[in-house]
Amino acid sequence: MQIHIYETAEQACRAAAFLFAAQLTRKPESVLGLATGSTPVPCYRDLIAYHQQGLVDFSRVTTFNLDEYCGIDYQNPCSYHAFMEENLFRHVNLRAEAIHLPDAPRGDDGGASGRAYDAAIEAAGGIDLQLLGIGRNGHIGFNEPADAFTYGTHVVNLSQNTIDANARFFDSVDDVPRQAISMGIGNIMACRSVVLIATGESKAEAILRTVHGPIDPHVPASILSVHPSVTILLDREAASLLPAR
Ligand code: F6R
Repeated sequence: MQIHIYETAEQACRAAAFLFAAQLTRKPESVLGLATGSTPVPCYRDLIAYHQQGLVDFSRVTTFNLDEYCGIDYQNPCSYHAFMEENLFRHVNLRAEAIHLPDAPRGDDGGASGRAYDAAIEAAGGIDLQLLGIGRNGHIGFNEPADAFTYGTHVVNLSQNTIDANARFFDSVDDVPRQAISMGIGNIMACRSVVLIATGESKAEAILRTVHGPIDPHVPASILSVHPSVTILLDREAASLLPAR
């Protein structure tokens, strides 16, 4: 686990964009794992700028997003489909058929959809570089604190903590879907490399427990400490509880 601490969130996100640009330079046909949420937005902004400057080409790239809400229309601006379209996809030269987000149609408990998503990731050759944010409770993807780690893509009941944290994207907390479909911890651990960005004081406790705590499914990100290639990019606030080095 490599940890890099930057003065600002902007700088931490710029570093993530560098890592993604380097990945695409090294391997233009990379399979990228993508995240939504507020944290990675500046990273996507930088990648769009690199693309517009002719530095990064997405024409051979395949993407798999971590998660999507259940029971929400793709056209809904709060859906992760719409988020990705707005913050990355429509600005770069990704092929439409190379873009994947998990999907659990109504009436599907996620079993069949989850297996299909896992099979699509495998058919693409696995994920080369996965971008992660982290929840205040240590969740990655929508893998909430639980008694056991999850394996493949599955439907999750969102915790009240996550519903409250995500209410800022909706008109009211009552509009936040109660379920999502998410890659499992097994999917994330199978990625060749992982970049996790955490910014802001609200993430400090989760980062402390991820970096220095025991591996514990109640802090899902803690499993990353045994992944062979994880880079954690922090701003000062998210790093504020880490012991001084
Ligand atoms: C998003 C995702 C979540 C977020 C996390 C942090 O695809 O999987 O794990 O990364 O909830 O969200 P923000 O960045 O909004 O604080």
